[in-house]
Amino acid sequence: MRTNKYSLVVVMVCHAISAHSFSGILRRVLSAPLHRKMASVKSFKQEYSSAQQTGLDHLPSTPAVFQATLSRSETMTSVLGMQSASPCARVWGVPFLFPALRIPRALPPMAVAPSNQEVSSGKGAVKSTRQLKKEQEQMARLWAEKWWPLAFSAQTSKLAPQSVWLLGVPLVLWWDHVAAAWRCTRDQCSHRLAPLSEGRIQTDTGCIECPYHGWTFDGAGACSKIPQLDESVVIDQRRARVLALPTLERQGLVWVWAGALSGCGAEEPRGEPATVAALDADGVAVTDYSRDLWMDATTLCENVLDPAHLPFTHHKTISNRRAARPVSFRLRGPISREGFSADRGSAAEKAEAAETADTAETAEAARSTGAAGAVSFVAPLLVLSETHRPDAFSDYNVVYAVPTRPGRCRILVRICFEVSAMRPPLKWIIGLSFTRLPKWLLHLSNHAVLEDDNIFLHAQGHAYRGSVKEREGAQLVPEWRQRLHMPATADSIVIAFRRWLDDYTAGRGVAWSPMLPADLETSANVRASKETLLERGDSHVQHCSCCQGALAFARRGRTASDVLLPLALLLTALSGNRVAARAGLVAAAAAGVASHACTAMQHKLLVGDYPPPRNARK
Ligand code: FES
Ligand SMILES: [Fe+2]
Repeated sequence: MRTNKYSLVVVMVCHAISAHSFSGILRRVLSAPLHRKMASVKSFKQEYSSAQQTGLDHLPSTPAVFQATLSRSETMTSVLGMQSASPCARVWGVPFLFPALRIPRALPPMAVAPSNQEVSSGKGAVKSTRQLKKEQEQMARLWAEKWWPLAFSAQTSKLAPQSVWLLGVPLVLWWDHVAAAWRCTRDQCSHRLAPLSEGRIQTDTGCIECPYHGWTFDGAGACSKIPQLDESVVIDQRRARVLALPTLERQGLVWVWAGALSGCGAEEPRGEPATVAALDADGVAVTDYSRDLWMDATTLCENVLDPAHLPFTHHKTISNRRAARPVSFRLRGPISREGFSADRGSAAEKAEAAETADTAETAEAARSTGAAGAVSFVAPLLVLSETHRPDAFSDYNVVYAVPTRPGRCRILVRICFEVSAMRPPLKWIIGLSFTRLPKWLLHLSNHAVLEDDNIFLHAQGHAYRGSVKEREGAQLVPEWRQRLHMPATADSIVIAFRRWLDDYTAGRGVAWSPMLPADLETSANVRASKETLLERGDSHVQHCSCCQGALAFARRGRTASDVLLPLALLLTALSGNRVAARAGLVAAAAAGVASHACTAMQHKLLVGDYPPPRNARK
């Protein structure tokens, strides 16, 4: 009996030793290819870090490295039947006997291309609740402690309150003609939460009056009148006040300080608004345009940062497919919380300049500095693109991307040309059209350009959010390094932007206010139809006083023409006088043309065309 017991112990020890050795050998043999791939991933990390220091031109191609690794993992997993409910796996019991051989189906994304902070700090993913709270506060303050532009002052009606959104909070903006200042408060009456933007601006006080029971609020948010209370009763401001945001008008824009929207940010304004000095220079012409879009503010920023799309997306509007060529970027400094900027140049231009250079030094200088322009991301609100032409004019494309609510943003565009450096007749054409043409006419052409992108960026935004399988946590574009294939130098600026989002927003994008209405929490998931994307009334005319005037003119013109036409025909028919009859015919024809023109104008002001010019057959 004792012998049997010893024998059993010896057999068990031998079995354990042999199993351990066998598992070690098998693990080494089977996982060697995976280790080789992991080594290439490690070298990618080093390459990525050094690229970050030196510029963006030579960023390694992440997806190829990772996809190879992933496909290998998948292959090995299926061969061994691991993490599978297949009968084979259960019978062989391989995962049970050799747990070290369990290979994940997908590697964690940060193992492939870690962000700046993680590389430098080496911190793991596990964070304390306090750390997480602190990070969330920092993110909220990044978005809220800013001067945000909400509207162009010259294109905003001073006669009626405007409904605007910022960081998920409905706001009301109005012109206080008594104080001669823009005012902005939460668009929610403290009585029974009716929207103040449906009310009116009181002509005698400049205060806003609620449409429901007439409570009145001043620019500081204090409730100045409750009509249902006797005037001798003191209003309890702790309960009756509405949240007011500091405002200012600068460089033709109405700005608000959004600190109070985060719940943890500074309510008192700090710093200056992100204006662009080039717009104040002498000899420039500027035209402004704004529109509410069905896309996230980050999707808009990414689009504007990327000039490689212009020849294709805007073929036949402002560019041409034949103009497509490689574009390179070189970071001017590190990617920081405040954003980044990069020199932009066409590889072809640089190569040409280098080839025609006299000496090796000048050739090298041409290669490294022959930038045709620059692009800057002033976090988190502004993308500034500059193009400088040798011995000619410069132009600036200034885009503010205002996060209004989840899945939506407002674009405020300023297109600026250095007219004084242009040669005739371009100088006259641009100068006159920017200064003399009616704004609504310019806005129609702005609409056409914007709709080139708008029609597909909404769908791209949905694709970015990923499939059910890919979707994880609150990441804006989950596992973007694996899912997006960006091999060209032109893509490097988008990679820089995604890295900024990873580093300073934990890949989540906009930090919405805690005041975000509950029903809008998932509004980014709403899919808009083509008609909605091309709609110009709610998205533009509703807040553009120039186009409101044009629309009212078109409606009145059409009504007048429709009345005039039958009258003129009647005059022609009843008149015995040949001259009067001819005059009647001319008037009828003019009324018909005017009616048609007014109808077309009305239509253009309210709806965009489809398909976009780039896809037109002719
Ligand atoms: S809800 Fe505004 S006054 Fe009653
Ligand atoms: Fe307009």
